[in-house]
Amino acid sequence: MAKDKIRVAVIGVGIIGESHLQTYQKIPEAEIAAICDINEERLNDVGDRYGIARRFTHIGKLLLEDDIDAVDVCLHNNMHAPVSIAVMRAGKDCYCEKPMAGSFYDACEMYKVMEETGRKLHIQLAFLYSNETKAAKRFIDAGDLGHLYHMRSYGFRRRGRPFVDGYARKEFVNTVTSGGGALFDMGVYHISQLLWLAGLPELERVSGHTYAEIAMDEGRRRESGYNVEELGVGLATYRGGLSMDILESWAVHGRPFPSSVMMGSEAGISLNPLVIHSRKYGLETDTTVDLGQMDYLAHTVYADTAHYDNSQQHWIHALLGKCELLPTAKIALETQRVQEGIYFSERLGREVTSEEIEALTKSKALEIPNLAL
Ligand SMILES: NC(=O)c1ccc[n+]([C@@H]2O[C@H](COP(=O)([O-])OP(=O)(O)OC[C@H]3O[C@@H](n4cnc5c(N)ncnc54)[C@H](O)[C@@H]3O)[C@@H](O)[C@H]2O)c1
Repeated sequence: MAKDKIRVAVIGVGIIGESHLQTYQKIPEAEIAAICDINEERLNDVGDRYGIARRFTHIGKLLLEDDIDAVDVCLHNNMHAPVSIAVMRAGKDCYCEKPMAGSFYDACEMYKVMEETGRKLHIQLAFLYSNETKAAKRFIDAGDLGHLYHMRSYGFRRRGRPFVDGYARKEFVNTVTSGGGALFDMGVYHISQLLWLAGLPELERVSGHTYAEIAMDEGRRRESGYNVEELGVGLATYRGGLSMDILESWAVHGRPFPSSVMMGSEAGISLNPLVIHSRKYGLETDTTVDLGQMDYLAHTVYADTAHYDNSQQHWIHALLGKCELLPTAKIALETQRVQEGIYFSERLGREVTSEEIEALTKSKALEIPNLAL
């Protein structure tokens, strides 16, 4: 008999793990089967507050449980690969937080194991489910842009480095746990959105720079061992000549940058807010979309829209066979390729090719003390 519910376990019930629990509680087809955290106090606090009785401090023991269908990995970046790989090898489908891993190498390993095991691997890329992305995709798929030749991936925080500027934990700002800074953490959303809309172009080469210039609280700097970029910039060239410039800031003295954009021979798109720019009847024209109306119609008239409401719901619906899983593992992998290319370019002081990125990348995966039995 076909399943009507997916029993999910969440590993790592910190800030984002807790938020995932709240979302699963709103998805009728998801049942929270268990939670796992190495911090027993946090595990019990979350378990008590969300009424989850089955609790594990050992990941390996959780993975032995036959009645858990799928596992959601909410650990820090350099734990994503070893734990996601163990999940898939244990015969379970795997959801993993962004960025896919702490290095392109580790992301490739995850991708290989996904192919080897045939399990479904889904990476959280929240921007794919926004109304702006959905509407932009309709214009693009209809061919309205003509020849797409340039994209601009923009992300702006004036002062929002995790931990040292307030929100989130110190693991975000040390490469041992995070693998990277602003480019990995927030760049992943903006770059993946454009790569998805552009039909997953193939990277040829990239150059870039990373910076950490702005003063921060010295106590928090010491406590975290802060060693990542607060600003990343890059220029990437894709097969066929499509280019993309990238600017991702956690901290900068300046005003918000304009939104990410796509530039085509027939029309351009600003993604936030969504505007389609074109020339009609000899007039420079800006078209806006009533996204509220689009959303309402989509939910009242076109029932399959619910499969794409948000990342977790999409994954649960895909596991139940209600829709095809979006190729998020591939999109996240290609996002990580260009991001890591910028780090290599900064290190080498020159442009790097896609093949060089593959040759240079190394594992940053951490030993997971509570994984092996
Ligand atoms: N915080 C956010 O707003 C946010 C948003 C989107 C994505 N993310 C991503 O989510 C991931 C986690 O971030 P977070 O902010 O939730 O971090 P967090 O520190 O709040 O939570 C991580 C949790 O993992 C637990 N943990 C650590 N090692 C473990 C192990 N070996 N076994 C089991 N549990 C272990 C910790 O005890 C902690 O509770 C990161 O990859 C981040 O990029 C975070």
